[in-house]
Amino acid sequence: MKTMKKSILITGGAGFIGSHVVKLFVEKYPEYSIVNLDCLTYAGNLENLKEIEGASNYHFEKVNILEETGLVEVFEKHAITDVIHLAAESHVDRSITDPLAFVKTNIIGTVNLLNTAKTFWKNYEDHLFFHISTDEVYGSLDDGGFFLETTAYDPQSPYSASKASSDHFVRAYANTYKLRTLITNCSNNYGPNQFPEKLIPLCIHNIKNNKPLPVYGKGENVRDWLYVVDHARAIDVVFHQGVAGETYNIGGFNEWKNIDIVRLLCKKMDEKLGREPGTSEKLITFVKDRAGHDLRYAIDASKIQKELGWEPSLQFEEGISKTIDWYLNNEEWLKNVTSGAYQQYYTEHYHSR
Ligand code: NAD
Ligand code: DAU
Repeated sequence: MKTMKKSILITGGAGFIGSHVVKLFVEKYPEYSIVNLDCLTYAGNLENLKEIEGASNYHFEKVNILEETGLVEVFEKHAITDVIHLAAESHVDRSITDPLAFVKTNIIGTVNLLNTAKTFWKNYEDHLFFHISTDEVYGSLDDGGFFLETTAYDPQSPYSASKASSDHFVRAYANTYKLRTLITNCSNNYGPNQFPEKLIPLCIHNIKNNKPLPVYGKGENVRDWLYVVDHARAIDVVFHQGVAGETYNIGGFNEWKNIDIVRLLCKKMDEKLGREPGTSEKLITFVKDRAGHDLRYAIDASKIQKELGWEPSLQFEEGISKTIDWYLNNEEWLKNVTSGAYQQYYTEHYHSR
C-alpha cells in the first residue's frame, strides 16, 4: 500500500466496541482523519466519545448504513481511504424477536458499504475494508476444542447467521472485485460503555439496584471473555500489520461458565458496596433458557499472537474490577442510556444530517 494521508471511516463508532476503537485511533494517530459514521440506535451513544469529540482529527456523521446516498456523501466529503466496519445489530436476544432488523443492518448494510467502497475507490491497492465479526459464526463447541480461523461456519442464531452472511459478502468482494479486505472474529467483550442488556453490565446494574439477576437455563453455558480495550488494540494491530485477505481470531483464552461470572460479580460488588459476603448472590434467579442457546465458545487466538505479536494486556479479575468501578462511577451514563435522555444530549451537540 502507498503511503498516503489516511481518512478512516469507522462505522458503529458510538457503540460499545466502536467507541473504544475511535478513541484509540483519534488519540494514537493525530495524522489520520477519523470519521465516525453511526445512526445512533438505542446502542449508540455520543457520550461514549466525550473525551475526543473536540479533537481536530475527529468527525461525526449521523448516517444509517442502509442509506446508500448518505454513504456516498460521506465518502466524497471526507475522501475516505479505509473502512473499519463495526456498525451492527449486536444482541442475540433481540435477533430472536426481530430477525429482519439483523438482516437489514448486518447484511444489507454491509453490502451497501462494500458497494460504496467498490465504486468510490479507484485503485484498490491503496485501500482497505476491515470487517469486524464475531466468533459466533463458528457455531457452538458442544464437544470441546477451539474455534480456529479454518473452522467451518455453522451459525445457530439469527444474529450469528446475519454476521456469517456479512463475512461471506466481504470475502466475495475480495474474490470477485479484488477489494483488499480483512476480517477479525472476536470472542465476548466486556468493559466500559457496554449497553446494560448484555450479561455483565446487566448484572452490575441489577446488583447495585437489588434486582434479580436472570441466569438463562442452568448457567452452564461457557463464553470466552476479553476486555474491550484489548479488542480495540487488536483491531489497531490487524489494521496496520494484518495481511489483506486474511482472517484473524481474537480472544483471551479466558473461558467462564455464566453462573461463575455472575457469582464473581456478586462477590466483587459485595466488597465494593460494603455489603455482607453472600448478600448479592441471593439475587440470582434461574430463568427460561434462551432459544437455541449456544453451549460454548472458545477462541484459539494463536495466529494473531504468533504472526502479529498481539497479547491481551489485562487479567480477567482486574478487568472485571475496572468494569464494575466504571459502572459505579458513571451512574448518569447508565441513567441516560436506559431512559432515552441521551437523545437530548445528541440534539444539543450535533445537528442531524
Ligand atoms: P453495539 O450494539 O454496542 O454498537 C453498535 C453500533 O452500531 C451502535 O453505535 C449503533 O448505533 C450502530 N448502528 C447499528 N445499526 C446501524 C445502522 N444501520 N447504521 C449505522 N449505525 C448503526 O455493538 P458492539 O457490541 O460494540 O459490537 C460492534 C461490532 O463488533 C458488531 O459488528 C459486533 O457484531 C462485533 N462484535 C461484538 C462483540 C461483543 O462482545 N460485543 C464480540 C465480537 C464482535
Ligand atoms: O461471542 C461474541 C458475541 O458475544 C458478540 O458477537 C455479541 O454481539 C455479544 O452480544 C455477545 O453475545 P452473547 O449472547 O454471548 O452475550 P450476552 O451478554 O447476551 O450473553 C452472555 C451469556 O450470558 C450467554 O450465554 C447468555 C447468558 N445470559 C445473557 C443475558 C443477557 C444470561 O444468562 N442472562 C442474561 O440476562
